[in-house]
Amino acid sequence: MPIYHTLGNIPHKRHTQFRKPDGTLYAEELVSTEGFSSLYSLVYHAYPPTIVKELGEPYSVEPKIAREKHLKHTSLIGFNIKTEDDYLQSRKPVLVNSDLHISLAAPRKSMTDYFYKNSQADEVIFIHEGTGTLKTGFGKLKFEYGDYLVIPRGTIYQMQFDGEQNRLFIVESFSPIRTPKRYRNQYGQLMEHAPYCERDIKRPTDLETHDEKGDFKILIKKQGLIYPYIYGTHPFDFVGWDGFHYPWAFSIHDFEPITGRVHQPPPVHQTFEGHNFVICSFVPRKFDYHPLSIPAPYNHSNVDSDEVLYYVDGDFMSRKHVVKGQITLHPGGIPHGPAPGSVDKSIGKESTEELAVMIDPFRPLMLTEDAVNIEDGDYYKSWIF
Ligand SMILES: [Fe+2]
Repeated sequence: MPIYHTLGNIPHKRHTQFRKPDGTLYAEELVSTEGFSSLYSLVYHAYPPTIVKELGEPYSVEPKIAREKHLKHTSLIGFNIKTEDDYLQSRKPVLVNSDLHISLAAPRKSMTDYFYKNSQADEVIFIHEGTGTLKTGFGKLKFEYGDYLVIPRGTIYQMQFDGEQNRLFIVESFSPIRTPKRYRNQYGQLMEHAPYCERDIKRPTDLETHDEKGDFKILIKKQGLIYPYIYGTHPFDFVGWDGFHYPWAFSIHDFEPITGRVHQPPPVHQTFEGHNFVICSFVPRKFDYHPLSIPAPYNHSNVDSDEVLYYVDGDFMSRKHVVKGQITLHPGGIPHGPAPGSVDKSIGKESTEELAVMIDPFRPLMLTEDAVNIEDGDYYKSWIF
């Protein structure tokens, strides 16, 4: 996140001697993405982050593709995804391409006996149900309904849930997740016309230094495999850090909608971007106020992108009979639009309570076996009236 942040103790000058009370040196580590050319932080560890004691056998978590090519409006009943005790096992990729993987997860238990690091992708975890704490070496981030947790690749973390009823909608991005470029000025600050600003960004707090030696299991994801590593020191042994590279959170409830006299196009809902896709938030808002306006969207032909909608809450104005956690996928190549009757029904309405997350990938998505298992097969006929 392009806001400078620091927690704990750091030396006055970077790359200089920084010593513990016993006179030995803390271990400095540069954490960065895109080589040395993008956002980075400097971390100070109680011990070097390199003390590998053992390697386990890697195993595959590669999505199993059920439908590689298709041209069919598709709907998935997301809350039918299987719940699992374990966090990593609960993550079920449903829609994937070479730019991003979209997963659903309903984990029941907190991570206690291992840590997780995604070395191949930034993660955006949308919290649909549940509360808890994202624990990292950078500090803690409490999360609740509506939060997007943005976790840059390489961040070692644990999810601690307060209860067993948790629903997550997860995007793994193989490029860095950013705020939309058009909302940032040349210095990186979010501008006045952006739908949110730095004040809305939640940053880690409560840095706790775990100065511990022992056996610490870290499951590291790279190229579709999980590599079990046993390290000799606790991964959360940071005594301090500073920089721009760290996990952060933004609540969908803090997204300020952009409205107009007539229907506004989807880009006004944009919240984040990655390479070849955008993530948008549809939030409660006043409808268009031209006297002849039609609040429902027009039919549209998204030839160059797929459209994924994840329904979170509220009464979705362009479609009836949707349930929480439902996903619709409108593939590029054929038009789609509001459900029969919803155009007339929208006229004269002053506001909507809808809450949804939309993802527009610019390359076609494939469906996995887990997706096909929760498919509503007749969705493509839902425009017949
Ligand atoms: Fe659409």
